[in-house]
Amino acid sequence: MAQKIILDCDPGHDDAIAMMLAWGNPNIDLLAVTTVVGNQTLEKVSRNALAVAEIANIRGIPIAKGSPRPLVREVENAASIHGDSGLDGPTLPEPTMQFANKHAVNLIIDLIMSHPEKTITLVPTGGLTNIALAARLEPRIIDRVKEVVLMGGGYHTGNWSAVAEFNIKIDPEAAHIVFSAGWKVTMVGLDLTHQALATPDVVERFAALNSKPGQFVVGLLEFFGKMYKRAENLDAPPVHDACAVAYVIDPSLIEVQQVPVNIELTGTHTLGMTVADFRYPPKPCNTWVAKKLDRERFWDVVVDAVKNL
Ligand code: BDR
Ligand code: CA
Repeated sequence: MAQKIILDCDPGHDDAIAMMLAWGNPNIDLLAVTTVVGNQTLEKVSRNALAVAEIANIRGIPIAKGSPRPLVREVENAASIHGDSGLDGPTLPEPTMQFANKHAVNLIIDLIMSHPEKTITLVPTGGLTNIALAARLEPRIIDRVKEVVLMGGGYHTGNWSAVAEFNIKIDPEAAHIVFSAGWKVTMVGLDLTHQALATPDVVERFAALNSKPGQFVVGLLEFFGKMYKRAENLDAPPVHDACAVAYVIDPSLIEVQQVPVNIELTGTHTLGMTVADFRYPPKPCNTWVAKKLDRERFWDVVVDAVKNL
C-alpha cells in the first residue's frame, strides 16, 4: 500500500526534487505540501512550491503556507546555495494552482486527526517550525502519526556551522520540540545526504528523459552544482531532501541506527548541533539516524519518478 505523507518543505532545489519524487513514485500517496520559511522567505518558497507543482503536474492536493519565521530566532536564509528566488537556475512557470485556504499547521493537524492512526508519515525537509507548532497546538497528533522522517542535522558534520546543519540551526527550539516529542523520528542528516551527490552521470540520466520535468531537474542541478562548488568546494551537489522521501518509499535504501539525539540549544560554538549518543550500551530512545545510502538504487528510484511525471 502506498505510504501517506505530508511533505513540509522550503523549495529549494533539493526540496523541488523531493516533491517530484513524492509525486512520481507509486509507493507514495502525497496528501499535502506545506511550506515553511527557510531557504528563502515564506512568500518565495511557497511560490516555488506552486511552480514545481506546475512542472510536475501535481494536482488535486492542498499546498498550504506555514510559518514566516522561526519560533525564537531571527529569519536566516540560504540564498548562498539557492539564489535570490530560492530556486534560481531554470525558468519557473507561472503557477495556476492556488494556495489552500488554511494555515499549514492547521492543515497538518486536520489531516492527521481525520485519518486512521499511524497511517501518515511527516516528511519535513526544511526548518521544523510548522511541525513543532502542530505538536504544541494539538499534542494528540504525536501518537497518531506513523513516524517523522526528516532531512536535517548530522552526527559528524555541519554545513551552517562546524557542527550544525541548516534546517536545525535556523530553528533549534523547534527541532528540540520535534526530536523530544516522543514520536518516532528518523534523522536523514548530512552524513547520509552527502552520499547522494548528483554527479555528471546522474545529470545525464535526467537529460536523457527528454521531458519537461527532466530538463527542469537538469536546470536545478546545474545551478545547485555551481553553488555547492563555490560554497563548500563539492564537485557535485548533494540532493539532501530527496533522501528523506526515498527512505519512506523503500527503507532498504538506507541503513539506519537507533541512537538518542539531542539538540544543542545553548552552546556558543555548537548551537543547533544534533548530538547523537553512540556509546555502549544502547540507550532506549525514539530517534534513528541514517548512515548508509544504496546510491545506485536511490538514483534509479529518483530518475524513474521524474520519468513518471
Ligand atoms: C538542507 O538545507 C537546505 O538548504 C536544503 O534544502 C536542505 O533541506 C541541507 O542542509
Ligand atoms: Ca530543504
